[in-house]
Amino acid sequence: VSATGRAAADVLVDGETVRALLQPGSTLLGADVAASVDRVIDATGKYVIPGGIDGHTHMQLPFGGTEASDTFETGTRAAAWGGTTTIIDYAVQTYGQRIQDGLAAWHEKAAGNCAIDYGFHQIVGDVTSESLLAMRGLPEEGVTSFKMFMAYPGVFYSDDAQILQAMQVSRETGMLTMMHAENGPAIDVLAQQLVDQGKTDPYFHGIARAWEMEEEATHRAIMLARLTGAPLYVVHMSAKQAVAQVAWARDQGQNVFGETCPQYLYLSLEEQLGSPGFEGAKWVCSTPLRSRAEGHQDAMWQALRTNDLQTVATDHCPFCMKDQKELGLGDFRKIPNGIGSVEHRMDLMYQGVVAGHITLERWVELTSTTPARMFGLYGTKGVIQPGADADIVVYDPAGHTSIGYDATHHMNMDHSAWEGFEIDGHVDTVLSRGKVIVDGNSYLGAKGDGRFLRRDLSQYLV
Ligand code: URP
Ligand code: ZN
Ligand code: ZN
Ligand code: ZN
Repeated sequence: VSATGRAAADVLVDGETVRALLQPGSTLLGADVAASVDRVIDATGKYVIPGGIDGHTHMQLPFGGTEASDTFETGTRAAAWGGTTTIIDYAVQTYGQRIQDGLAAWHEKAAGNCAIDYGFHQIVGDVTSESLLAMRGLPEEGVTSFKMFMAYPGVFYSDDAQILQAMQVSRETGMLTMMHAENGPAIDVLAQQLVDQGKTDPYFHGIARAWEMEEEATHRAIMLARLTGAPLYVVHMSAKQAVAQVAWARDQGQNVFGETCPQYLYLSLEEQLGSPGFEGAKWVCSTPLRSRAEGHQDAMWQALRTNDLQTVATDHCPFCMKDQKELGLGDFRKIPNGIGSVEHRMDLMYQGVVAGHITLERWVELTSTTPARMFGLYGTKGVIQPGADADIVVYDPAGHTSIGYDATHHMNMDHSAWEGFEIDGHVDTVLSRGKVIVDGNSYLGAKGDGRFLRRDLSQYLV
């Protein structure tokens, strides 16, 4: 199955790359292929798809006085189990730090530890004249996109003046501007007012981070992008009104793209409200879960179908309950933001195929092919074709499991945000550059198998 169609074919892998797609029984290579290969993986009745590309992860991210609980080792292994063969993680420039130093620190965390190939986006957390200069050097480092935050004042936040200047660099260099679009200063006032009223439970995180705050920031980012001519990619979108802004900008011919995540398709603010005690903390992320009654989840599926949204990433940012999420007992503002999903994205999105929200081809497009194009990896990644890296997943539509922390969990967390989720189908076999790293219930990969990917500029930009 590719982004554009499906066919019965054999895939011939030679070393790390795909050599050929062959009609079954083909003698194209002058001999009986099946007789001359080292190994045959029988995928009869199963889907053969390009390995998943998760364009948004945060391994070992320092956040809220703690650090995301998956290391590059544990997080990439969990990704592999779930049929994802590439991640793009966010290197962080913190306040007062040089961009080059932030990027170097991320290389240090990842190098030699990953099970699958990985690239980096750069978080620009401190726009100064020095960092605006340093940003120009990022494409040469294979980092062709950077993220800014309109939220989290005092942490990653940039104001409009800073965003405008960074977008000018984006326009000049062709780097993609990625935006966390929420009006942080206004949200922080609302959050303080809720806490002052004694409304401190996890649920109020979502009340403070109202959809108006996402729509407004998305619109503002779009207008700044229009003014500067910067290409804009809005990350982790959850509000239907914000997605309407992206759709509007695209209709104007702007290079504006939108990403959503499985949590915004399946989980809701109502369920968070209905969960007992502090349980709702496991679903605290930003942007927040939205009201199902308001129709946000339905709208996200529709936008994926109609291409108002182009990609699905996880925003994998796991924290344990114990000693991590629990920092926010009595004050939702202190709950570290994030959900762990890197292992489940391919499965969760396949459920959209089963439910009739998207086609098989669209599943591949949203989870692999478009991320590859968007982030300058297409050709080697995101497609099964001669010359491409042999990053291949055999997905079996048969079988039924329920996600359980004890049963199916490989992420370094003490709970699952997806506990009890029913999954049709499963990942059977995963190849990363020709090496079988998941074979049924066996993990055959190794720490250090994954290589750093120097990315080209986005292949969506003209
Ligand atoms: O809640 C989230 N999304 N945590 C990760 C950091 C970010 O804003 O992407
Ligand atoms: Zn964000
Ligand atoms: Zn994120
Ligand atoms: Zn199977």
